[in-house]
Amino acid sequence: MARRPFVGGNWKMNTDRTSGAALVAALVAGCGDLAEGVEIVVFPPFPYLDLVRRSLGESEISLGGQDLSNDANGALTGEVSAEMLLDSGAQWVLVGHSERRQRMGECDALVADKLLMALESGLSSVLCVGETLEQREAGSSSRVISAQIVSALDHVHPAQFQRVVVAYEPIWAIGTGVVASPQDAADAHAAIRDALTSRYDSALARETRVVYGGSLAPGNAKALFAQPGVDGGLVGGASLKAPDFLSICSAAAFGVAAR
Ligand code: PGA
Repeated sequence: MARRPFVGGNWKMNTDRTSGAALVAALVAGCGDLAEGVEIVVFPPFPYLDLVRRSLGESEISLGGQDLSNDANGALTGEVSAEMLLDSGAQWVLVGHSERRQRMGECDALVADKLLMALESGLSSVLCVGETLEQREAGSSSRVISAQIVSALDHVHPAQFQRVVVAYEPIWAIGTGVVASPQDAADAHAAIRDALTSRYDSALARETRVVYGGSLAPGNAKALFAQPGVDGGLVGGASLKAPDFLSICSAAAFGVAAR
């Protein structure tokens, strides 16, 4: 079965009530029937989840949180639970984004716990993996990515894993304007599918959507999505401009389907 392309818009710590609502309105107005061919999810900051959910209305675009707690509830100041995300209308959550791994010190074990919490609560999840520039230059990209996959999926059952999209996000490409070459992305995506085959089996690895993230833009999306193993993208900066984000969604819908 062909994999349905996936494009996520990670707004990070950007927008406010006014600009967030305007961005969603532009996405809803401009998306037409694009969401039939590509699964589109926006990940606004927590305070705007409800606002964005209401603005999305009956649109096919889905909603996700950028993070979640590995605990269900309790005395955890500042944390947001999986149930709260679901209660706010989110179906998706990002886990293991490199900004959280690097800036907030999230280790592999915490990423694994968060992923399990998300899946056990009924959320779908984008699991982000990727290597640093130093690791890439040392030739250890595949080893690093595989280790992140193995660790994050240690306790995830095959049935739960069907609700996971894996995002290959080389850290040196995030927010830098330096994009991975289509060949780099193809190689990394192949390494991810090899790791998934070892963890589960080749059928599940083949069904899994693996998307690329890191300085995606309308000008480079098409070439990346033409690679056989690249099933869409996780978009940061360009997701804040509706025309750019929709252009990337359209490249995924048509590019992935055409190959
Ligand atoms: P970027 O971010 O598109 O701004 O590089 C991607 C991401 O962090 O998901």
